[in-house]
This record gives sequence, structure tokens and C-alpha cells, in this order.
Amino acid sequence: MNIQIITHPLVRHKLSLMREADCSTGKFRTLTKELSRLMAYEATRDFEIEPHEIDGWDGSKIQGERIKGKTLTIVPILRAGLGMLDGVLDLIPTAKISVVGLQRDEETLQPVPYFEKLVDNMDLRPALIIDPMLATGGSMVATIDMLKQKGCRNIKALVLVAAPEGVKLVNEAHPDVTIYTAALDSHLNENGYIIPGLGDAGDKIFGTK
Ligand code: PRP
Ligand code: URA
Repeated sequence: MNIQIITHPLVRHKLSLMREADCSTGKFRTLTKELSRLMAYEATRDFEIEPHEIDGWDGSKIQGERIKGKTLTIVPILRAGLGMLDGVLDLIPTAKISVVGLQRDEETLQPVPYFEKLVDNMDLRPALIIDPMLATGGSMVATIDMLKQKGCRNIKALVLVAAPEGVKLVNEAHPDVTIYTAALDSHLNENGYIIPGLGDAGDKIFGTK
């Protein structure tokens, strides 16, 4: 399975706070941001570095370093993915943002696309898809399909909670895409919600329902 579970104690502690039934919108939003920042640090660990000559403080040339290649694009899946955006941007403020809108049909559980605005040169950029929940995996697979249609070849997925069903679907459709998650939960219930999960992450982040 192409999945990395991020087990840093801070990640585990914060995720557990999010699971509490009475976690308020404000607290859920703050924790989403904090977790995203910590997890983005781990998910970017294998970025390649290249030498880069810079001017040092005393006028001499110094062999510096920088991340190789074209700037990363972060891809939040609307809506809930927006809750993770600021946390990732805290670490990578120069990232370009490509937005994908998908709404899961509550009856069929199939993702319904309603928005797509990707940045240029997708074929040259690494992409980091962000969405708190990987449930059936339908939304993630549809997003990866969209990115690959634009030529994107270096894709990672960052989620807070994943279900085994979703991991299997993504791994089968796109074995090259690594999924980074804070937890791999037990299963989906009959309505397609992750158990134990977080409930409806979009509603909790936006304060709807
Ligand atoms: C949720 C979640 C994912 C999707 C996961 O979004 O944020 O995008 O469902 O489910 P899947 O793996 O079965 O596709 P939702 O469609 O509820 O929209 P929202 O973010 O606007 O709340
Ligand atoms: N979307 C959510 O927000 N939560 C789930 O458990 C499944 C899909």
C-alpha cells in the first residue's frame, strides 16, 4: 500500500481532540490548520535539493541550496480542503494554488465536479492534494484524474483521516500517488462516513448544519 501514516505525538494528540463530539467549529478549524502544518512538513521531506550560489553577508559567494524544480502547487478539494490550506501555506508561502470543487452525492457517494481552476505548467510542478477526509476515495481519484489529464506526474495526497476502502481505491487507480494521513481508521458506515472518523469535516470547518 502506498500510504504513510504520520505518527508524530503532536499529530496524534491533535487528531484525538478533533474526534471529540463537542469540538466546536473554532477549535476544529484551528486543529485542522495546526495538523496540516505538521503533516506538510513530513509530506515534503523527500523534496529534492539543488546547489544554488548566493551572495553572503561579507560579499563572498556562498554555495547555498534550494528546492529543485518548479514551485509546488497545493490542490485543495472544495470545500473542506480549504481548511487545510493556511497550514500548508505557513510552510510553503510561495506555493501556487489549484482549486478543485467536488461534492459527494449523498445517495450514490459519487463525486460530482463543479469547479476546476488549475495553475499553469501543471506538467512541471509537484502537486499536493489536500482534503481532510479520504472515505470511499472517489473524490481523491477524480482529482488525481483531473491533474493527470493536465500532465501532472508528481502527485501526493495529504488527508487527516483515511478509510481502508478509500486507500484501496486510490492505490489501485493511482499506485504512484503516496497518501499521507494522520490515521487509518476502521471502516465506512452505511452512509459512507468514516468510523470512528471526524464526522462531516466540511460542515465542522464551515459551521454549516
Ligand atoms: C467530503 C470530504 C471529501 C469527500 C470524501 O467532502 O471533504 O472531499 O467528502 O469522500 P469520498 O472519499 O467518499 O469521495 P464533501 O463532498 O462532503 O463536500 P464538502 O467538502 O463541501 O463538505
Ligand atoms: N466526508 C466527511 O466529511 N466525513 C466522512 O466521514 C466521509 C466523507
